[in-house]
Amino acid sequence: MHGSFRMKEILGVLLLVSIWIRTTDAVRNTAELRCPDTSLDAEVDKTVILPCWTVPKMDVGNKVEWVLNDTVDVHLLRKGKHEFDDQGKDYKDRTSLFNSELETGNCSLRLKTKMSHTGRYRCTVRIGDETKHCFISLTVHPHERSNTTQLNLSDSTNSPGGNKDSTFPPGGIVGIVFGIVGIIIIIILIWKRKTCSEVLGGKRPWPFPFPRPPCCPSGEVVLQIDPDDPVAQPRPGRTEVGRTGHQGKPDDF
Ligand SMILES: *[C@@H]1O[C@H](CO)[C@@H](O)[C@H](O)[C@H]1NC(C)=O
Ligand SMILES: *[C@@H]1O[C@H](CO)[C@@H](O)[C@H](O)[C@H]1NC(C)=O
Ligand SMILES: *[C@@H]1O[C@H](CO)[C@@H](O)[C@H](O)[C@H]1NC(C)=O
Ligand SMILES: *[C@@H]1O[C@H](CO)[C@@H](O)[C@H](O)[C@H]1NC(C)=O
Repeated sequence: MHGSFRMKEILGVLLLVSIWIRTTDAVRNTAELRCPDTSLDAEVDKTVILPCWTVPKMDVGNKVEWVLNDTVDVHLLRKGKHEFDDQGKDYKDRTSLFNSELETGNCSLRLKTKMSHTGRYRCTVRIGDETKHCFISLTVHPHERSNTTQLNLSDSTNSPGGNKDSTFPPGGIVGIVFGIVGIIIIIILIWKRKTCSEVLGGKRPWPFPFPRPPCCPSGEVVLQIDPDDPVAQPRPGRTEVGRTGHQGKPDDF
């Protein structure tokens, strides 16, 4: 009687122990590591989060590893400590984990991107005796806005319908300045020559609202005529009206 009671007790304890072992085994075997996003895009120099967590929630504070392309160590947590000795140099001061969430199984990685960060990331944790991992592919793009607007600007200067008012090519500005200066020089030369010849020929009053050029001092007739100058040369039978009506008049332009 007494002995069988003990046997029952022992059997009961064994049963409970085996049930407990089975359930914990089951939890271990069904516990998973999940990377909900299989691929992510990010702009360079931006902070991106690579999500990774356990289901159900389990403490992963002892060991978390993030590795790129199975070769470059991105961020390592071993025996509860962050280890940076083996960290790839492109990841220095650019990675972190959410330390307060490690005990609830959240081993997401926070990463400030570089162009060289494109690749496949492996998130690895240890659950019980087993190592679990999952993968995320990250693609890092160059800056989008600033660089494409520059491309668009150079396109518009080449296209005939481009916005030329706001984007004068430098060569055009130089050409316009030279053109204006050239026209001014030509006008001054013609004024000078015309007024000289008019004063020489007909003693006309000075008609323009700016000072008389130095070749014609104060309306006096200068009689030194260049014989090769067809304008200054007096011609026979030529009236004053005929002269002024013809050559060198500003209206002719
Ligand atoms: C893990 O942490 C990140 C950052 O705080 C958060 O965005 C994400 O939702 C968390 N995941 C879980 C399952 O708590
Ligand atoms: C990682 O793999 C991707 C895709 O194969 C590749 O483009 C990238 O250059 C690799 N990065 C490194 C650092 O090996
Ligand atoms: C354009 O892209 C280059 C590299 O591709 C980068 O170094 C530069 O900063 C970008 N320009 C701007 C204005 O962001
Ligand atoms: C500017 O460039 C981007 C990318 O190259 C393009 O998507 C966009 O349509 C362009 N815009 C104009 C006005 O050309």
